[in-house]
Amino acid sequence: MQRAGIRPIFAAAVVALAASGSVASVRAGEATLGSAAGSADRYFGGALDPGAFDERPYRELAATQLTSVTPENAMKWGLVEPERGEFDWKGADSLVAFAEANRQKIRGHTLVWHSQLPLWLINGAFRPDEIKDLMVAHITEEVGRYKGAIYAWDVVNEPFTDDGSWRRSIFYDAMGPDYIATALKAARAADPAAKLYVNDYNVETDGPKMQALYDLVASLKRAGAPIDGVGVQSHFAAGALPKDIQSVMEKFAGLGVDVAVTELDLRIRLPADEKALVTQAGDYASVVRACRATPRCVGVTTWGITDDRSWIPSYFSGYGAALPFDAAHRAKPAVGAMIKAFTQVAP
Ligand code: G3I
Repeated sequence: MQRAGIRPIFAAAVVALAASGSVASVRAGEATLGSAAGSADRYFGGALDPGAFDERPYRELAATQLTSVTPENAMKWGLVEPERGEFDWKGADSLVAFAEANRQKIRGHTLVWHSQLPLWLINGAFRPDEIKDLMVAHITEEVGRYKGAIYAWDVVNEPFTDDGSWRRSIFYDAMGPDYIATALKAARAADPAAKLYVNDYNVETDGPKMQALYDLVASLKRAGAPIDGVGVQSHFAAGALPKDIQSVMEKFAGLGVDVAVTELDLRIRLPADEKALVTQAGDYASVVRACRATPRCVGVTTWGITDDRSWIPSYFSGYGAALPFDAAHRAKPAVGAMIKAFTQVAP
């Protein structure tokens, strides 16, 4: 546990970033995604790879366009504790330092997920009570380390399968559905000010998975568990954005929680032609409008910022071009469309 030393580490990194000229400035009057979202009292976020901070164009785009950042991978359990009791906070610390240097919010991602777990944990043949203790200790360690720095945590990620049944994981197998309330309580104890989210995909349309998440959040609220928000990830093909994404967000908000679009990307079958980019821009703008129309929607985060650093091509064969900026860091039509959707007078 190095909590006592963390502030000086960040302070040193902030000075280093500023001294290296990495804190890009925006020309006066120039609209950015972040400033446009700010004018609508929302943030505009992006998932970042701290391993790319040494590339100036990437760093400057992230610094100027975003008012919130999320570690795409750097805060996942498998990366921060690759061996039991041996922590590697390099990437996570670097992301936090970057955000602090650029006065950006941070969405922490993610504490309890079935994927990207360390092998020692998966293969450890731990008893259920040991899994519970390890989960609580992990949350306490990581949330405590960044106490006061992280605006919101994806405490539990992807607890359901597409048919709305519980997803099997070491946590579910050890504790049943109670693992969720246990995780939320541990996070609240470690940083009472952080907003605590459950985050999932394919919940942006009214179907069994959305209903399962709705019922979970309703039951957590009834039980008095500390739940503050629902993350709708929003990974879609351009042209296939669910028409009911706004009504779904409103439905979650009706439970008395915040809502955030947490992992938005809109993939295109390559090569991406002008027509596909225009369709994509329309869908990006629709998501922004849906968020603006939902008073408790606090912001929109895209899963990456530039197409060359997107998870899409390696997971969806033949697809790519999913993000607002292309591989050369040029703004695609989606950028202007989102700025307009954030700034135009609401109808
Ligand atoms: O770090 C290793 C590196 O050492 C190795 O050489 C390389 C070889 O493949 O792999 C690297 O790990 C990769 C890791 O990303 C870091 O780049 C993994 O293979 C790769 O599977 C992993 O993918 C991530 C994925 O989560 C894991 O499920 C994606 O980058 C990340 O975008 C994705 O993010 C998830 C969210 O957390 C939750 N919602 C869905 C979203 C998209 O899948």
